[in-house]
Amino acid sequence: MTRHFLRDDDLSQAEQTAILDLAEHIKADRWGRKPLAGPQTVAVIFDKSSTRTRVSFAVGIADLGGQPLIISTANSQLGGKESPSDTARVLERQVAAIVWRTYAQSGLVEMASGTTVPVINALSDEFHPCQLLADLLTIREHKGTLAGLTVTFLGDGADNMVHSYLLAGATAGMHVRVACPADYMPEERVVADADAIAVQTGGSVTIFTDALEAVSGADVVVTDTWVSMGKEDEKAARVASLSSYKVDGDLMALAKPDAIFLHCLPADRGYEVTSEVIDGPQSVIWDEAENRLHAQKALMVWLLENS
Ligand code: CP
Ligand code: NVA
Repeated sequence: MTRHFLRDDDLSQAEQTAILDLAEHIKADRWGRKPLAGPQTVAVIFDKSSTRTRVSFAVGIADLGGQPLIISTANSQLGGKESPSDTARVLERQVAAIVWRTYAQSGLVEMASGTTVPVINALSDEFHPCQLLADLLTIREHKGTLAGLTVTFLGDGADNMVHSYLLAGATAGMHVRVACPADYMPEERVVADADAIAVQTGGSVTIFTDALEAVSGADVVVTDTWVSMGKEDEKAARVASLSSYKVDGDLMALAKPDAIFLHCLPADRGYEVTSEVIDGPQSVIWDEAENRLHAQKALMVWLLENS
């Protein structure tokens, strides 16, 4: 059966751990695996802008012996004249896997249901699961473990990163806290799914409106832009609602003294995080950005081996 990676809970706890272990090995031996030798091609499709995702997939596919084919939907038939499922039928005859950054999650589900090659979500409006593999790898490197740690996300609770933290964090057995205003809450069904996973893994999921309470004693502090791609017209309203969730030095001081700070980037400095924090000694953002490469290489190796 073809395995896809459309949302974080497509992986069990054991599978998530196996991919993170593999990522650690691949990071230590960058050129050691060539499952795409040939070279086989991987299609990497973008409906939205990207720096990290584009570079890390292109470099990672090349590292694995393959050839990346970067496609912008602006000048392809997908998104205009042709459906995701018809596009998948065309691509699967020629590529080893399909990576897609898009808007609605439903497009990815349609793409995956119609194809025999693995489909990877490179960010949708609802989830950013590849980023979470990199974040978990980074947290594990700095903390030595995942299960039992408390991670607090502050800001836009309806953000794709929050939904992915809820599912991936719960899968890893972490205590996931989200601090957000009442008008920017996570989707209830994602919280329910994360809750059900946490019951199995010993983790937990808690939603707060009080930023100070949520960050108190945290091992990991995370935020993301208040204005995700596609929401640019809402910037003024978002800044007004979210300003009390800004991660600054005073807020970081409430977390554990050895807490680390993560941000998937790009950051809007001065809005969701101050330069003092993002450039400070607790920030691990550059490790996090590098780990996109290693985590996604491990994901591709694992999906190809298990499909
Ligand atoms: N973090 C992340 O996905 O960055 P890009 O938008 O640059 O790909
Ligand atoms: N939440 C952000 C993540 C960017 C990598 C967005 O969707 O724009």
